Amino acid sequence: MESSCDETGVALVDAGGEGPPRLVAEALHSQAAMHEAYGGVVPELASRDHIRRVLPLARQVLERAGCGVHDIDLVAYTRGPGLAGALLVGAGVAAALAAALGRPALGVHHLEGHLLSPFLAAPAPSFPFVALLVSGGHTQLMRVEGIGHYELLGETIDDAAGEAFDKSAKLLGLGYPGGPALARLAQSGDPGAFALPRPLLHGSHGAGLDFSFAGLKTAVATQLRRLGPEPDVQARADLAASTEAAIVEVLVAKALRALRQTGLRTLVVAGGVGANLKLRAALDAGAARMQAGVHYPPLALCTDNGAMIALAAALRVQAGLERPQRPQAFDVLPRWPLAEAGRPALA
Ligand code: KG4
Ligand code: ZN
Repeated sequence: MESSCDETGVALVDAGGEGPPRLVAEALHSQAAMHEAYGGVVPELASRDHIRRVLPLARQVLERAGCGVHDIDLVAYTRGPGLAGALLVGAGVAAALAAALGRPALGVHHLEGHLLSPFLAAPAPSFPFVALLVSGGHTQLMRVEGIGHYELLGETIDDAAGEAFDKSAKLLGLGYPGGPALARLAQSGDPGAFALPRPLLHGSHGAGLDFSFAGLKTAVATQLRRLGPEPDVQARADLAASTEAAIVEVLVAKALRALRQTGLRTLVVAGGVGANLKLRAALDAGAARMQAGVHYPPLALCTDNGAMIALAAALRVQAGLERPQRPQAFDVLPRWPLAEAGRPALA
């Protein structure tokens, strides 16, 4: 069960066969339309909507899987990071369900779910690899030796890549979430039309793996002011394309740099921004030039979903990192660094 932000996701995986766990069924409800009127996620509304959605979605998943509730061996939920109230809904329902069934419950790190989600696509990546995590709240490069072994190589010092998409989209008068809307508008624009900054790419930060995106929205705002109160459609498309190009160029340069610095040949991309087709094309081309391979989750599983949470739980149990127990209580961790989640919770 995933409920960390504005998507309620429920899924069932089968970890009984050969190879990585297999996705059996999933169901998802996005609250995007509900939050759109406010230009962003309203936490209290998110929590209340998770309460409304989670059980009907769970029933849908069991129905699609042709399973009964007693077929469930373990109930996993997103323990953090995310909105506290939203997380509590999924955690509470998961713990209650597990307790009622006499089964164990397991809290999973949201970003570990994203990071491992490419194992839901074929061919699955093999360890070790570099992971580029690009979501609405996080932008990180990690060195991944195996399940639970996550070493932070670099991260954003201010806004996340998804936030840069969302904030620029808002300035351009596009809806929420801004990433897909901005990418759509960018299709008819010229990415070279506006010279926007590529923060931390050159100069003294040139060798680093940290990101900074806060300056980009300021640059977009400045360009918009120059265009006057009612910029024409082409100018807006050009600015959208230039913004997308700036974000993509920085992400690609740093991800390839991480491959070079670690000497690894496999890149895994996950998180909502991983759905961006320009980013995928540029990463594929850049990695191919250095004989590296890139793995993505299935397109529909880039943004938040239950499948990645069920998968991460199953992989952690398979790897011997967890000895899940029947829930006596549950908690959530709204702020929780991924490197800490790597350590066995029950060591
Ligand atoms: O991983 P995710 O669903 O939620 C978080 O954990 O944050 O990521 C959501 C982010 C949003 O900022 C959204 O604008 C961005 O992913 N996003 C995209 C695209 N699809 C989603 N950004 C650029 N291009 C896309 N196609
Ligand atoms: Zn996410």
